[in-house]
This record gives sequence, C-alpha cells and structure tokens, in this order.
Amino acid sequence: MEKKNIDWANLDFSYKKTDYRFVANYKDGAWDEGELTTDAMVVMSECAGVLQYAQTVFEGLKAYTTEDGKIVIFRPDLNAKRMAESAERLQIPVYPEDKFIEAVEKVVKANAAYVPPYGSGASLYLRPYSFGIDPVIGVKPANEYQFRVFATPVGPYFKGGIKPLTIRICDFDRAAPRGTGHIKAGLNYAMSLYAIVDAHEKGFDENMYLDAATRTKVEETGGANFLFVTKDGTVVTPKSDSILPSITRRSLIYVAEHYLGLKVEHREVYKEELKDFAECGLCGTAAVISPVGKIVDHGEEICLPSGMNDMGPVCKKLYQTLLDIQHGKIEAPEGWIRVIE
Ligand code: PLP
Ligand code: COI
Repeated sequence: MEKKNIDWANLDFSYKKTDYRFVANYKDGAWDEGELTTDAMVVMSECAGVLQYAQTVFEGLKAYTTEDGKIVIFRPDLNAKRMAESAERLQIPVYPEDKFIEAVEKVVKANAAYVPPYGSGASLYLRPYSFGIDPVIGVKPANEYQFRVFATPVGPYFKGGIKPLTIRICDFDRAAPRGTGHIKAGLNYAMSLYAIVDAHEKGFDENMYLDAATRTKVEETGGANFLFVTKDGTVVTPKSDSILPSITRRSLIYVAEHYLGLKVEHREVYKEELKDFAECGLCGTAAVISPVGKIVDHGEEICLPSGMNDMGPVCKKLYQTLLDIQHGKIEAPEGWIRVIE
C-alpha cells in the first residue's frame, strides 16, 4: 500500500479529510449494521438533538506504525467502554463495545495510506462519536442517533512539540460535583472554549481547572489530565470524580510502576502543593505528555524546577517508554496493542 504524499514530520493537530469514515444509524430502537462511506458530510434536521441540546459524546485514540511496519491501535477497548459510559450519562443508546472496536479497525484499515510511517513522530487520530440526529424541541433525548468514526493524520497537539508550556489557574470551573466532568461529552468542551480563548489571549497555553466545590484541589485541563513528579521521584496524579479518566494517565501509571519501578500516588492534589513538585505534565491521547514549565496563579509564578527548555527527566522516561510500547519497540502489557490485519 502506497502512503499519501504528506509532510508527516510537520503535521499539526488539525483536521485533514481522509478517504473513508464509518457511519451507523440508530432508529426504531436498534443500531443498523453500519458501513464505510466516502461522504464526509452529515445531513440532519435543523432541530436535531445535537444541535439544540448538545446531545453528543466522543472519543479519541490513535493508530501507529510500529518499528516492524505493522499498523496498531492502542487500548481501543478502554475507549469503547468510556464511550459507553459517556453515552449512558447523556441518554444516548450505547453503540456496542465490540462493534465500536470493529468500526475503528475498519476505518484504520480503509485509511491505511494515511497512517504516518514509523519514525515520523505523527499518528492517525481516530474520532468516534455519537449524537442525537432527529428533531427535538422539548428538552428530552432524541429518538434517532448516528455513530461515526473518522480518521485524521496528526502531529503534536501543542505547537512546538515538547517545549514546556505556561499554564494558568483558571477562574472558570470545568466540571461540577455530580456533573459531567468524568465523561467525554461535547458540552464539556463547548463551555471550556471561552476560558481557553481568554487564556491564549493572555499568553497562556492552557488552563488548570480546580475543583468547583472548594477551589483548593487540582482537577485537569480542558483536554488532558495532570501528572506531577515529586522531588523524590514519586509520580502523583490527581483523583476526583469530576476528572475524565484518561487512558493515557492510567497507562502511564502502569508504566511508572511496572516498567520504571517508580512509586505512584493517585490521590487528591492540593493547589498549595504545586510549588513543591519537581515536574508537571499534561497527559492524554492528543497531548501524550506535554511538559509544563510554569503555572501562574493570578500573577504569582510557580516555576517547575524542570525549567522552560526541556521535559523533566521522569516525564521524559515515561514519555519514551509509552511511545516505545505504542511503536512496538518494547513489549506491551497483555491486550494493550491491537494489530490491524
Ligand atoms: N481529560 C480531558 C478533558 C480530555 O479531553 C482528554 C482527552 O481525551 C483527556 C483528559 C485524556 O484522556 P485520554 O488519555 O483517554 O485521551
Ligand atoms: C484526546 O486527547 O483524544 C482528546 O480528545 C482531547 C481533545 C481536547 C483533543
């Protein structure tokens, strides 16, 4: 299979149309078989549930080319499960988890020419999503839904690749206690747009959200979980019911413990502790690990000892080990890597 003529090494994180996407429809209480299509447009009623009341959930995962030339996807079972949990919370009928994985595999296979080659630093980002498509005017769930998966080749989420970021503690909240912060609903991202545009305008790369109830604890950013490293080398990740359970974070914790022999704590992290950490990173499918060099709390600067030039040593080891697992350079834990045949 011949690869597309793309400047893989200089890809950014933006949408580029690929050849095939998967579409399944839910009608009269059941999902149809679904199929691949070359049509990238979605046609729907002006009153569709997704347009009026944001009834939509999504996922994000990546396909990679391994060192020996295979195309693989990383832990799609966890995306399928999280999407099911997100869908349930928004009254969207669950697209079956095994069919979800099948659909992702079909899309990767059909777009194999867009999977970046090994060593390019890029990957094929997959975006499964599901939304209410029939007209809804009273506030209630739609009756008909679409499940779709598209693919787009991507490079680093943050411009500058792994240059440390400057973030600010945000005065807006991302998620309420007992709200929807723990699921991947479009609405969580819509309401973060004002805060991220404001952060960018003021020279910050991202927002650090605090817990909405007490504003004393660290939650996450708009699109990634936090990972901290203490001065004695312990990896610490914030725990909260309103944080999205990042698959990358869960994988990194495993890597830290079982591959690197590091001590790991998944616990509440107080804002007051930030000044004591040695390293900070944002972790997620898109972010992988993006280092944070500076956290600004209303004018007060917390400068991480890892500095503004490079990723800290522990984050670097975690980053490299995860990438090596994803690219087949070191053996993955059972079930983490799915080869696309
Ligand atoms: N937190 C938020 C709010 C996200 O949107 C994402 C992205 O998916 C993550 C964390 C990271 O999750 P994952 O590692 O599963 O991609
Ligand atoms: C991902 O990391 O897959 C996400 O969905 C984050 C998104 C904000 C790009």
